[in-house]
Amino acid sequence: MKNYIKHDPWLIIEEGFKPEYNRISESIFSLGNGRMGQRATFEEDYSGDTHQGSYVAGVYYPDKTRVGWWKNGYPEYFAKVLNAPAWIDIKIKINGTTLDLAKASVANFKRVLDMQHGILTRSFEATVADGKKVSVVSTRFCSMADGEVGAIRYQIKPLNFDASFDILLPVDADVVNKDSNYDEKFWTEVSKYADEKKAIVVAETRKTFFHVATGITYKVNVGGLEVGKASSPILKEKYAAIPVQVNAKQGETLSIEKFAVVLSSENHKKESIARICEDKLAFVREAGYDKLENAHRSNWKQRWEGADITIDGDVAAQQGIRFNIFQLMQTYTGEDERLNIGPKGFTGEKYGGSTYWDTEAYCLPFYLGTADQKVARNLLVYRYKQLQKAIENAAKLGFTNGAALYPMVTMNGEECHNEWEITFEEIHRNGAIAYAIFDYIRYTGEENYLTEYGLEVLIAISRFWSQRVNWSADKQKYVMLGVTGPNEYENNVNNNWYTNLMATWTLEYTQYAIAYVKQQDKAKYEALSSKIKFNETEETKRWADIREKMYFPFDETKEVFLQQDGFLDKELLTVNQLKKEDRPINQKWSWDRILRSCFIKQADVLQGIYFLEDRFSFDEIKRNFDFYEPMTVHESSLSPCVHVILASVLGYKEKAYEMYLRTSRLDLDDYNNDTEDGCHITSMAGTWMSVIKGFGGMRVKDGKLYFNPFLPDQWNAYSFRVEFRGRVIGVNVSREQTDIKVIAGEPLEIIIGQEKELA
Ligand code: BGC
Repeated sequence: MKNYIKHDPWLIIEEGFKPEYNRISESIFSLGNGRMGQRATFEEDYSGDTHQGSYVAGVYYPDKTRVGWWKNGYPEYFAKVLNAPAWIDIKIKINGTTLDLAKASVANFKRVLDMQHGILTRSFEATVADGKKVSVVSTRFCSMADGEVGAIRYQIKPLNFDASFDILLPVDADVVNKDSNYDEKFWTEVSKYADEKKAIVVAETRKTFFHVATGITYKVNVGGLEVGKASSPILKEKYAAIPVQVNAKQGETLSIEKFAVVLSSENHKKESIARICEDKLAFVREAGYDKLENAHRSNWKQRWEGADITIDGDVAAQQGIRFNIFQLMQTYTGEDERLNIGPKGFTGEKYGGSTYWDTEAYCLPFYLGTADQKVARNLLVYRYKQLQKAIENAAKLGFTNGAALYPMVTMNGEECHNEWEITFEEIHRNGAIAYAIFDYIRYTGEENYLTEYGLEVLIAISRFWSQRVNWSADKQKYVMLGVTGPNEYENNVNNNWYTNLMATWTLEYTQYAIAYVKQQDKAKYEALSSKIKFNETEETKRWADIREKMYFPFDETKEVFLQQDGFLDKELLTVNQLKKEDRPINQKWSWDRILRSCFIKQADVLQGIYFLEDRFSFDEIKRNFDFYEPMTVHESSLSPCVHVILASVLGYKEKAYEMYLRTSRLDLDDYNNDTEDGCHITSMAGTWMSVIKGFGGMRVKDGKLYFNPFLPDQWNAYSFRVEFRGRVIGVNVSREQTDIKVIAGEPLEIIIGQEKELA
C-alpha cells in the first residue's frame, strides 16, 4: 500500500519526482476516451523505468497459447490488447543536450489529473548537465468530444540561458508489448508520409490485419506567434518524425502544441484511412489546442452531471469515488456496440484488454445508472452479436442443438483464455450474461429487448445448461459436475451452489421470456423458433424438470448453502487466523494448498444471494454472510463490493465501510501492489455499486425504485444522482435528513426506507 497521492476532491495530485513509483503513476494518471487511451508517460525522453502504452479500442493480437499439455477444445490463441503506435513523444534537445528526467536534476515535479475535465498536467523544473535550467508545463487530453483525437500543449521556458531547442515530433509504430513476448513485434508498416507539417504512419497488426493510421501535426509558438523551422522529416521503418529547430530567449515560453489523429480500420476503410487521417489532421490543426480542449471540457462537464457522487467529510473517499467514476467513463462510452470493457481499460496490458463476465456482473449497473440507456444496451447487444461464436464455442466442447457457451475471456466472441479450469469450467459466466438481460430490463423497463435480441440469447444459454447437467441416480436430482465457481480458489468441484442457482434461474427466466415474446409478437416468436429449430414443448419440459429437481448443496445443521459438495470437509478457518506473512495467499501459497483450503477468493455463494436477493430472507442472508465472509480473502478486486451491499442489507455498517475502503482507493493507494500493471477498471464499477446499492440501498422491484440509505459514521453527508427511466433522481443523505427527489423528468413514486423483511 502506498500513500503518495495527495487528497483532493477533484484532482489527483503527485508531488515530487518518484522514479520508483513512475509505473504506478503512469497507470493512475492514464487518459482515455472510449476509443483510445494513453498511459501517463512523459512526452520528452525518459531513460528510467517506464511503460509507454498507447491503446486503440478493439485492436488486439491473437498470441500463441502457452499450455503444458494440449487438451481438445482449448482455444487457439490468447488475445492481447496491442500496444499501439505512440503519438505522444516530444523529444527535446536543449542546446544539444537531451532533456531526460532520469539524467537531469529535477525540482518541483508535479502531476495533476483534473478528473472534472479529463486533463493531465505535468510540471517540473529540470537542470541539464551544464547547469542550464528549464521549466516545463505540459497538458494533454484524449478528446471526449472526438474519440480519434489527442492533443498536447508542452510549454518550455529557459530559466537561466538563451536556448536553442531541437524538437523532434515523431509517430512511432515500432512498439512492443510490455506484458510478454518482449521482443516480438506485432505491427508491420503499410505506409508512411511526412512533410514539414505532419507525419502519418499506417501500420497493420500481424494475424488480425487491423490497420491503424496515426498522424500528428503541430504548432510551435512564442508569445502567440508561430515560430520554428522544420527541416526534412526523418523516415524510418514504421516511423516518421518532424524535426523543428527554435530559439527562445531566457524567460520566454515556447509552446509546442502536438495534435494526434488515431484512426482504426474498424471505423474506416483501409484504402482511404491515410487520406482521412490527413484531412482530419488539417482540421484539428486549424481548430487549435484551445478549441479542442474546450469541446473536450464541455463533454466531460455533461458526463459528470448525471454521474457524480459527492462525499462530505472525507476527502480521501471523495477523491476515491470520483477516480473510479472518471476511469469508467473514459474506458467505455457505449457509442460502439463492438466494444466492451477490459479489466484494465486503457491503463495497461494485463488481462489482454478482453471482455470478462465482469461486464455483466459488475459494470452494467454503473452504465445503467449514469448514462443514456443505449450505453448499457450496447453492452448487451455486444453479446447478442457474438451469439453464433458462443454456439460454436459450445459445439467445440461437444454441445449440440444451438447450445451457447459464452467465452470467459474474449475479444471478438471467441474464447481466448487458455487455463482449462477457466475456459472449460468457469461456465457460470453464462448465468451472468443471462442475468444482465434481466437486470437491464428490470432497470429500464424495455421489455421489448426480449423480443428484439434477448430471447434468442436466453434460449441458447438454457440449452447449454440443460445439456450441462446430468441426472444423478444416487441423489435422484440433477447435478452439475466439474465446474469452477466465481471463487477461483476451487477447481473442478461438483455442484457449485452459485452455478446451479444461476442455471435454474436462467431456465426460469427463459420460460418467462418465451411467454412474453409469444404474447407480444407471435410472428416474431415463430420466426425465431423456426430459425433456431426450437422445439418448445420438448425443450421446456426438460427445463421445467431440471428446475424442479436441481440439487443444491445445503447444510441442515448450519442452515447455510454450501459453496459446493464436500465444502464442510475442509478445515474451516477464518481469515484472521491466517498469519500476516501468509497473505495474500495467491502469492504466498502453492496452488495445491490454496485449493485444499477453505479460503475464498471472492463472493461465490454470496454472489448468488446478491443477484437474487429478493428470493432470500434476512435470516438466510445473515447466516450465509456470517459463515462465508470470515473465510473470504477478497483477493479479487471484484469481491468487496458484493460484501458492502449485503453488509448494508444486514445493517453491518462498520463491515460495509471497511469493505468499501478496500475498493474505493484500491489503485490510488496501490493497495495490492499491482497498479503498475494498470488500474482495476471493472472493480471500479463495484465501488460505484457499493455507494448506490450498498449505502444508498437502491433497488428496482416491479418497476419501482427503492432506496434505503444510511450514512457511514465517517462521513457527514453524501449525494448522488442516477438516471432512471428518462428521469434524473437526486439522493442527498446527511445526518439531519434524507432527501430523494426527481430532479429532471416526469414525477415518479419512490419508495424510501423499507427494510428487508425479517423472516
Ligand atoms: C477474478 C475473475 C475476473 C477476472 C478479471 C479474476 O481475478 O477472479 O472473477 O473475471 O479477475 O477481472
